[in-house]
Amino acid sequence: MTLSTPTPPPSATSRPGPLLSVRGVTAFYDEFQALWGVDLEVREGEVVTLLGANGAGKTTTLRVISGLLRPPSGGVRFAGREITGLPAHRIVELGIAHVPEGRQLFPLMSVEENLLLGGRVARVRARRPANLERMVELFPILGERRHQAAGTLSGGEQQMLAIARALMSEPRLLLLDEPSLGLAPRVTEEVFATVRSIAARGVTVLLVEQNVLEALEISDRGYVIEHGRIVRAGAAAELARDAAIREAYLGL
Ligand SMILES: Nc1ncnc2c1ncn2[C@@H]1O[C@H](COP(=O)(O)OP(=O)(O)OP(=O)(O)O)[C@@H](O)[C@H]1O
Ligand SMILES: [Mg+2]
Repeated sequence: MTLSTPTPPPSATSRPGPLLSVRGVTAFYDEFQALWGVDLEVREGEVVTLLGANGAGKTTTLRVISGLLRPPSGGVRFAGREITGLPAHRIVELGIAHVPEGRQLFPLMSVEENLLLGGRVARVRARRPANLERMVELFPILGERRHQAAGTLSGGEQQMLAIARALMSEPRLLLLDEPSLGLAPRVTEEVFATVRSIAARGVTVLLVEQNVLEALEISDRGYVIEHGRIVRAGAAAELARDAAIREAYLGL
């Protein structure tokens, strides 16, 4: 937009659509149906948490969004275009980065080599050296361990590396699958602080977490998924106060 463009009257201003929109998505593992028409959306700049019990379909939802799993029905739109069924590498090029459950690092490769792999997409390849320096600045511990095998890092450091590797692709949307899994409470806090600072830099985040209250605390909104269906949606603060959610997920 140029400065000389007159501001349209409010009636003509259409609200921009959500950055991510998932509509009626189903997913199967062979005969087993894991998702039954999942609807959710994430607006630019939001942090949104997807909550649910073990096996509810959280990881499956993220896998559909990032193109690892093709939904037989329903659709995914990102930044105004249909991305349903595109291969995962195309979706990374479009600006979605997925930090998978269990981190999936290359343990025998160095920290630096793992980071460089995250920056291989064509859109950012020219900025790869600069992004590498940015990441070791953002995560000083990765700078210190730069030439060490990723498998020798602590759990918290490996999670930071997995996040940093995803950021190497300069995503507009970051999908995080249980980043605090298996980490001590103090390290978990660090991971949440990191997610918050990434969001503050303008990256939109869709988060899956077991630490429900901590996740809602850094989120704008949340969804609850049960047996492959979204059963609740709301403002994060409202979900955090909800008695049924506190009982189901916190045992309170
Ligand atoms: N590779 C697979 N093959 C067969 N069934 C699968 C596979 N992956 C997941 N499932 C099943 O699909 C359902 C949803 O799994 P999903 O991994 O999405 O759950 P989740 O909400 O991420 O759970 P968790 O909290 O344990 O990570 C579960 O019933 C699970 O057993
Ligand atoms: Mg999972």
